Amino acid sequence: MTDPAPLLQAVGVSRTYPGTVEVVAVRHASLELRARDFTLLMGPSGSGKTSFLGMLAGFDPPDEGEVRWRETPFARLARDELLAIRRTGMSVIFQSYGLLPSLTAAENVELPLRIGGTGLDEARTRATAWLERLDLGHRLDHRTFELSGGQQQRVAVARALVVEPEVILADEPIAEVDSENADLILSALWEVVVRDGAVLAATHNPEALRYANRVLLFRDGVIEAEGSPDEVAAQLTTD
Ligand SMILES: Nc1ncnc2c1ncn2[C@@H]1O[C@H](COP(=O)(O)OP(=O)(O)OP(=O)(O)O)[C@@H](O)[C@H]1O
Ligand SMILES: [Mg+2]
Repeated sequence: MTDPAPLLQAVGVSRTYPGTVEVVAVRHASLELRARDFTLLMGPSGSGKTSFLGMLAGFDPPDEGEVRWRETPFARLARDELLAIRRTGMSVIFQSYGLLPSLTAAENVELPLRIGGTGLDEARTRATAWLERLDLGHRLDHRTFELSGGQQQRVAVARALVVEPEVILADEPIAEVDSENADLILSALWEVVVRDGAVLAATHNPEALRYANRVLLFRDGVIEAEGSPDEVAAQLTTD
């Protein structure tokens, strides 16, 4: 039986940051993300996880290799295909959240729907449902600078999920929260897998291992190990 085509794929990608001291952040890394994958990127701080996600998101072109969305290289996608990917194909949760501070929690979550043409009432209903699911029903009308770090993180997760994307790329989605909220976030991300999508998340938090079917372990920009959570857990040293 042949595997279905990957939703998102990195083929031998590398990224170097020039500077006073040149840093090869990612070297020849490959990944195939398929429907129903929940894959984790783990490894010490500075090992290349965020840099790898930046290339997979299509934000940073790799210096070598290529990234493909459903088998088409990003560089060859037409403008309307790229727009569709940005709107509903792939949601990205940034390590720094990227919320708009002057908008309320609900407005931040409604925004990607409104940009995509969803009416105000429906956008509000869907945004509210995700925020309630993430235990923020009592903070809908707070502006995001009035929220704690962990609350902002959950708003960012709701904003990524509200468009019902095929793929979510999440950079440290449970860095700021306690274990109860980590579970809330992980089970919300799991919804994407249930709908035959895929999740790729960078994390230092071993709680995520329970949800994952595969782990890529980064060290010094290289994928040092890859396998099931059990296989890779044995190699996880203190970060
Ligand atoms: N904007 C940048 N300019 C120059 N060098 C950078 C930049 N961003 C990252 N680097 C370098 O690339 C390497 C990989 O960084 P990256 O942010 O990808 O690591 P990470 O695994 O996500 O770390 P963390 O767990 O701390 O988030 C780092 O060692 C860093 O020195
Ligand atoms: Mg990072």
